[in-house]
Amino acid sequence: MKLHVVVLAAGKGSRMKSKLPKVLHRVAGTPMLKHVTDTAQHLGAEAIHVVIGHGAEQVRVAMADEPVQFAEQLEQLGTGHAVDQAMPNIPEDANVLVLYGDVPLTSKDTLQQLIEAQDGDTLSLLTAFMEDPTGYGRIVRNVADEVVAIVEQKDASDEQLQINEINTGILAVPAAKLKQWLPKLSSDNAQGEYYLTDIIAMAVKDDMEVEACHPASLEEVQGVNNRLQLCELECYYQSVIAEQLMLNGATLFDPNRIDVRGELNTGNDVIIDVNCVFEGKVELGDDVEIGPNCYIKDAVIAAGTKINANTVIEDCSIGSNANIGPFARLRPGTKLGDDTKVGNFVETKKAIVDTGSKINHLSYVGDAELGKNVNVGAGTITCNYDGVNKSKTELGDDVFVGSNSSLVAPVKVGKAATIGAGSVVTADVKDEQLAVARGKQRNLDGWKRPVKKS
Ligand code: UD1
Ligand code: CA
Repeated sequence: MKLHVVVLAAGKGSRMKSKLPKVLHRVAGTPMLKHVTDTAQHLGAEAIHVVIGHGAEQVRVAMADEPVQFAEQLEQLGTGHAVDQAMPNIPEDANVLVLYGDVPLTSKDTLQQLIEAQDGDTLSLLTAFMEDPTGYGRIVRNVADEVVAIVEQKDASDEQLQINEINTGILAVPAAKLKQWLPKLSSDNAQGEYYLTDIIAMAVKDDMEVEACHPASLEEVQGVNNRLQLCELECYYQSVIAEQLMLNGATLFDPNRIDVRGELNTGNDVIIDVNCVFEGKVELGDDVEIGPNCYIKDAVIAAGTKINANTVIEDCSIGSNANIGPFARLRPGTKLGDDTKVGNFVETKKAIVDTGSKINHLSYVGDAELGKNVNVGAGTITCNYDGVNKSKTELGDDVFVGSNSSLVAPVKVGKAATIGAGSVVTADVKDEQLAVARGKQRNLDGWKRPVKKS
């Protein structure tokens, strides 16, 4: 059966105390709602329907690039009413999976199990056992231990309040049945809402089997109502990732002090020191070492390279056995070859640096192409910007740039050429030439220093 996923995301989330709609708050750098729609995509959903209400416009904008369609719920009249808003866009013969925009971490495996339990004659329900079930809908079973209803906290009898099997809210059900049941829901209950949960009793009445499945962990079905719960899920998510990294052959000096906000792939024997943040897609080859306090976003770092403390890397590729930092900043478009070195207080941007070249101290290298075995002395600056346009600096193989030089782009320095320290290079230099462009030194004999006036 075709899978249609309905994600409820119309609620206000007032306890977040935020101008941002709740479902756009982030776990591991990604809006909660996107975690949910990503999972739905991985399940092979034919369509993903997001029910929006509070902050609808903001949610539409934030999710504009996602393969989802929206159904607007103008008034929040309950979860049953919310699902009903998406029904006109769902075909009779679909299987409907209901998810929640504020329950971000349900795993694909758990949901797969739920979907598989549902065939045309079964309603499958994700339930969990909680020591303290306060606030949740309770799962009511008969003497044969079959699920017969869900009763909300506010409508439950004292006896029902003792039940510790709770409704996660997540369920899978044939669309044809939903289309029959939803119009029959009533709001005659303690909250005056159209409860989706009332369809369970309707299913039982229609002789449908109700099957309960369970998540692998409680965090998978944990919803977020405030920032404390958001933080709990963040910690859980990070701990799961850290565990996977370690089982994959990476050493983490402290698994509680790493943050992965995206996808981090590691080879064998990778070592990651404390307080590193990885964003976007990052690949670390075998034996890569990352020092403490590094921020690395969208980067490929090849085998054996060492990134030293306090280095910031964004949208870069780095070859093997390179040595970067401490305190280096590699900005977008930097491509460093094998065996390169970039030292402290060096900033690079759109710099293509070939094998074995070194920029060891206090430099800015932007819009530049460096050949093999180039040595850039301390304090060298590529003057790539004239206030209007950016221009390029090209240094051939084996060039030696003396310290404190300014390379005023556009400029080309030929192979094995040398730039004298302190030069301001404005014209091209040919292969193997020495360029010196600085005031000539004069030494004056008998110079008397000024004396203090009385
Ligand atoms: C719901 C369930 C309860 C379950 C709990 C799990 C019902 C009636 N109750 O209760 O059994 O234990 O979730 O957390 O379903 N929403 C809309 N439109 C609405 C109402 C809600 O989009 O009109 C969305 C909310 O944004 C939220 C989700 O549905 O993401 C759940 O709504 P909420 O009000 O939190 O339901 P609960 O009362 O907690
Ligand atoms: Ca809730």
